[in-house]
Amino acid sequence: MPILDANTFELISRSPDQTRRIGMRLGELLLPSDIICLTGDLGAGKTTLVQGIARGWGTSDVVTSPTFVLVNNYRRPDGVQMNHLDAYRLESALEAEDLDLDRMLAEGPLLVEWAERIKAALPEECLAVSMAWVSDEHRRLVFSFKGDRFHRLLDQLRNGIVMSFA
Ligand SMILES: Nc1ncnc2c1ncn2[C@@H]1O[C@H](COP(=O)(O)OP(=O)(O)O)[C@@H](O)[C@H]1O
Ligand SMILES: [Mg+2]
Repeated sequence: MPILDANTFELISRSPDQTRRIGMRLGELLLPSDIICLTGDLGAGKTTLVQGIARGWGTSDVVTSPTFVLVNNYRRPDGVQMNHLDAYRLESALEAEDLDLDRMLAEGPLLVEWAERIKAALPEECLAVSMAWVSDEHRRLVFSFKGDRFHRLLDQLRNGIVMSFA
């Protein structure tokens, strides 16, 4: 069951598919220049969540971990793009500045795994998703935000998910 308070939204996913379904709900709501900051250890489910986000947003491109390539770019039939960045191998926010995040945000939504590693290079306002291992198939997801746009986005996401539990 979702646990509710004003500024965070927390839930437990019981399977990779459930994590993808939660991601789809979020992906449907995303607009260009929205930024989703994903944190959590290896295996927490960040890439699995992004698979759902990308599907819900509307691409049928295959979503893989960009750990080695740093950035994956997905396309929707209408030509809009979404960038998926993995900061695991970046040493500092300085390195991230070479990636041209402004261009990525102009192209469409930006999803960042290991966002905390390049915090200084990212806009302050974002939707943050913190993921943690609970057991083999269970993961905790905690959504929080900075900024009005992401407050609204979290409200929309929460309402959609709570409705589907009702
Ligand atoms: N409830 C769950 N949500 C997400 N992943 C899960 C869940 N239960 C098990 N898993 C497994 O955990 C792993 C998560 O890997 P991945 O999404 O690549 O994590 P990260 O990107 O955080 O390193 C996958 O093998 C996935 O199948
Ligand atoms: Mg990953």
